Amino acid sequence: MLKRIAAIAVGLGAAGGIGFFAYAWYPAIAPVARPAPSSFSPDAVKRGALVAAGGYCAECHTRTDNGGGPVMAGDYKMETPFGDIFSSNLTPDPETGIGNWSEAAFKRAMNLGIARDGSQLYPAFPFDHFTKVNDQDVSDLYAYLMSQPAVHQEPRKNTVPFPINIRITGQGFWKLLFFKPGRYQNDPKHDAEWNRGAYLAIGDAHCGACHTPRNLLGAEKSGSEYDGAVIDGWIAPPLNEHNPTPVVWTEEELFQYLRFGVAPLHGSAAGPMSPVPHSFLSQLPESDVRAIAHYYADVDHAATRSSGDAAAVTRAMQMSGRNLTGPQTQDADARLYQAACGACHYNSGPAPVSGRPELALNNALWLDEPNNLYQVMLHGIGAKEGQDGIAMPSFYAGLTDHDMARIAAYLRRTRTTLSPWTDLEKKAAQARATLKTPPINASH
Ligand code: HEC
Ligand code: HEC
Ligand code: HEC
Repeated sequence: MLKRIAAIAVGLGAAGGIGFFAYAWYPAIAPVARPAPSSFSPDAVKRGALVAAGGYCAECHTRTDNGGGPVMAGDYKMETPFGDIFSSNLTPDPETGIGNWSEAAFKRAMNLGIARDGSQLYPAFPFDHFTKVNDQDVSDLYAYLMSQPAVHQEPRKNTVPFPINIRITGQGFWKLLFFKPGRYQNDPKHDAEWNRGAYLAIGDAHCGACHTPRNLLGAEKSGSEYDGAVIDGWIAPPLNEHNPTPVVWTEEELFQYLRFGVAPLHGSAAGPMSPVPHSFLSQLPESDVRAIAHYYADVDHAATRSSGDAAAVTRAMQMSGRNLTGPQTQDADARLYQAACGACHYNSGPAPVSGRPELALNNALWLDEPNNLYQVMLHGIGAKEGQDGIAMPSFYAGLTDHDMARIAAYLRRTRTTLSPWTDLEKKAAQARATLKTPPINASH
């Protein structure tokens, strides 16, 4: 399940002046009769399905609370600092969905964030990324959506308060400040593979929507691209040279992670990252996933930074083995760790065993805050998340906040070279509070 994007803006601010209204006002585009599914070529529909997977449309356009809802029929609840926003019905139902939208109206929504009736859409719909998607992909996406079954379902009403709910001022103003419309342009300094990767990552797949920090109005901060950000209690780590893991994210590590949900020298894609490989990247042609890996290996300058990787693995394996023998066995925290986690997380060879992430190499111990370590302990990792078919139990019921804090402090001091985390017990309670219901697989 893709989680909501935490600090989504719905926009703020009041703006006046005729010039502004000329900027923010758009006409309605006339409704059309729903096009027959047979009017689209099967190839276009097939290609469009990949664009839909790539943009996680179904993740945000399918209700998950209140017992769930039909795929793409909208009403997915996004909690934002400005109120709850419910996504639109994207099935071709003429009354409650987009059945009477022409391709031109759909294209305008993707390019500019304007609905068919001319109203401004909230950037909870990531049109700031979709504006990069090229006309062919948008046309294929339209063909795909319009050939799906129509579902009659009205989304619930947003709870965004006045005056932010006045879309023309609130959203129009937000766009004036932060939105740069326009299709992706190839960067001639880079090869075709890099440009393909950048096109997918920046546009449809909108990696930056989670991995770039946002300002107070919920727009991605310019100048901080891929610096990492908090999302639903997790940290989406930096994807640039600020990534703190001991082994650099090389093209091959990135490819393994993005294609299969696990990188041998880093760990698994859990939490909000889990659907990215599992629902999307696993469906694309392998060359597209390689292209995204190629692009991010350049973003984080892997070629010039990876020379110390072999030494980092050796160091991690030494740190990992240390707690089993020697003076550390006197350490009560080491014994707690050993009892709760040690059986599964012990590595002794020259490199970590596949399916057993080495904690000394994992972002969970190296980030500035313990969020991901706590989230993994509380949620566990389902068999369909992370590495396929391999699971980790939830310790939601098995460990108290105090226990989790002791394990976090212990791992940080024995498996990293970084300064200790602070306020660990308080942060454990805060992490626990982000889970609305205890996970069903919680151990006792
Ligand atoms: C991160 C969540 C998210 C993702 C991913 C997402 N959307 Fe949306 N979308 C929304 C929300 C929320 C709205 C409602 C915005 C509003 O009310 O202003 C919306 C609105 C829309 C609308 C306007 C519909 C209308 O009736 O006004 C269209 C069209 C749309 N999305 C298409 C897509 C497509 C196509 C994709 C995938 C390529 C997609 N969305 C992915 C959250 C998302
Ligand atoms: C819905 C939010 C979201 C989206 C979209 C997203 N990520 Fe992530 N990503 C996360 C989170 C949260 C984590 C941490 C997961 C974990 O540690 O298991 C993460 C982890 C990662 C990591 C591992 C970093 C590390 O140091 O361990 C990489 C690499 C990554 N993402 C790349 C991408 C790429 C490339 C895309 C776009 C194709 C993407 N992400 C889209 C939220 C997201
Ligand atoms: C029953 C075996 C088992 C136990 C016990 C266990 N783990 Fe895990 N852990 C796993 C497996 C397997 C994975 C990888 C799961 C996957 O990829 O699907 C994992 C993954 C992780 C990750 C990496 C997540 C990521 O996003 O890369 C962390 C961190 C972690 N475990 C911490 C712990 C801690 C702390 C404990 C003790 C409180 C613990 N584990 C106990 C089996 C276990």
